[in-house]
Amino acid sequence: MKEFDLIIKNGTVVTSTESFLCDVAVKDGKIAAMAQNIEADAKEIYDAAGKLVLPGALDAHTHMAMPFGGTVSADSYMAGTRAAACGGVTTIFDYPVQHKGETIRGLVNSKKEVLEKEACVDYAMHCCITDLNEGEILEEMEKAVAEGITSFKCFLVYKKEGMMVDDGMLARLMLRAKELGAMINIHAENPDLIDYYTEKFLSEGKTSAWYHYMSRPEFVEAEADKRAVHWAKHLDAPLYLVHMADKEGLEACIEAKEEGADVFVETCPQYLEFTCDVYKREDGRNFVCSPPMKGQESQDALWKAIKNGMIDTVATDHCPFQSYEDDFTKIPNGCPGVENLYPYMLDAANSGKITFERAVELCSTNVAKIFGCDNKGSISVGKDADIVIYDKDKDFTISVDNMHSDLDHTIWEGKQLHGYPIRTYLRGNVVYDNGDFVGTPGLGEYVKRSPRKH
Ligand code: URP
Ligand code: ZN
Ligand code: ZN
Repeated sequence: MKEFDLIIKNGTVVTSTESFLCDVAVKDGKIAAMAQNIEADAKEIYDAAGKLVLPGALDAHTHMAMPFGGTVSADSYMAGTRAAACGGVTTIFDYPVQHKGETIRGLVNSKKEVLEKEACVDYAMHCCITDLNEGEILEEMEKAVAEGITSFKCFLVYKKEGMMVDDGMLARLMLRAKELGAMINIHAENPDLIDYYTEKFLSEGKTSAWYHYMSRPEFVEAEADKRAVHWAKHLDAPLYLVHMADKEGLEACIEAKEEGADVFVETCPQYLEFTCDVYKREDGRNFVCSPPMKGQESQDALWKAIKNGMIDTVATDHCPFQSYEDDFTKIPNGCPGVENLYPYMLDAANSGKITFERAVELCSTNVAKIFGCDNKGSISVGKDADIVIYDKDKDFTISVDNMHSDLDHTIWEGKQLHGYPIRTYLRGNVVYDNGDFVGTPGLGEYVKRSPRKH
């Protein structure tokens, strides 16, 4: 009789399209068999009766150990990926930022060196391009794609920080990405408007967190969203808009999608949960991220698109900083979320707001498909055994004390969830068990991605 490493018995498997009672057998890190009743020997048998068996989430947007705003984001790769594992995320996509003049290879290697030692879950990278190095980067992109880096990020913002690309550079990158079967991801906000408002509020002595929102309101994001979509349509190039937070920009994306443009939209749990009112709270500084949370109308539009399929992915933009001073111009931008993504979206499913299949699609299957992770994103034979066991009946209240990152606070403090992951497997290895991280730094592997098909 065949011996498996693991059999998960009696659980309900959830894919992006259906849910069904099924045993899942794992061998050498892969899902090796799926059937109603697998009778075979295994080193471990896990009884998942009454539980859901889900594919691990892929968080398409994180910034671990990122130098930013005069400091470095609080979670190292070890802490951030440990938190990921405990929230059912089995692959992260990090965003290393190119220093001016740096090659893609130099950038990727410097990160891989750390990730190989520290990563507790698998990892991919979208490289942020800030400098074409007189065209060398456009050449180098071909090699990067061959090595599995099939997406690159452009900031239409952070001009003073030296990270912004202008429209000429953006167009070159989009066209080159299209040619290579790669894609450009865009952070869309208008930097000149932000600078104008920031200076105005500073001169008026208005420095509270509320003015972070007031200096980057809805139309500041919408202008850049629309510009990005304009280029995608007219250059006929694929585009992935990260952390969509405003209704007007979202509507431009939906219109482009309906016209057949290759436009993908990501939003984040923080935009689905909070509005700009958080910036009026005493701890408003903790919610400072870019783009900021917007008004209720934008949040409603995001939920509508979550429900009707017009948003493609939910990712976290995990970029936490320790508690900071109150002046909005000095607060490094970014919020935590990698451990909260899947539980939050699954709670939305458990309460009937969306289906479990849709939660799986948004957090796992679509991410794997859009970004070419051929072995990830589904519970099916041949895929990596990245599996989350979810208890629909377990109540959980998020607190900084039960999170696994290095952060000294969480914007999710006090959030009550009905249902919670109780176990995470990374390629068949248990890395999270009922509240405890039980994985190993360095177990995470690089995910080599496939180019997009034309
Ligand atoms: O505020 C944010 N989002 N910080 C991280 C960098 C980015 O813009 O994605
Ligand atoms: Zn961004
Ligand atoms: Zn980001």
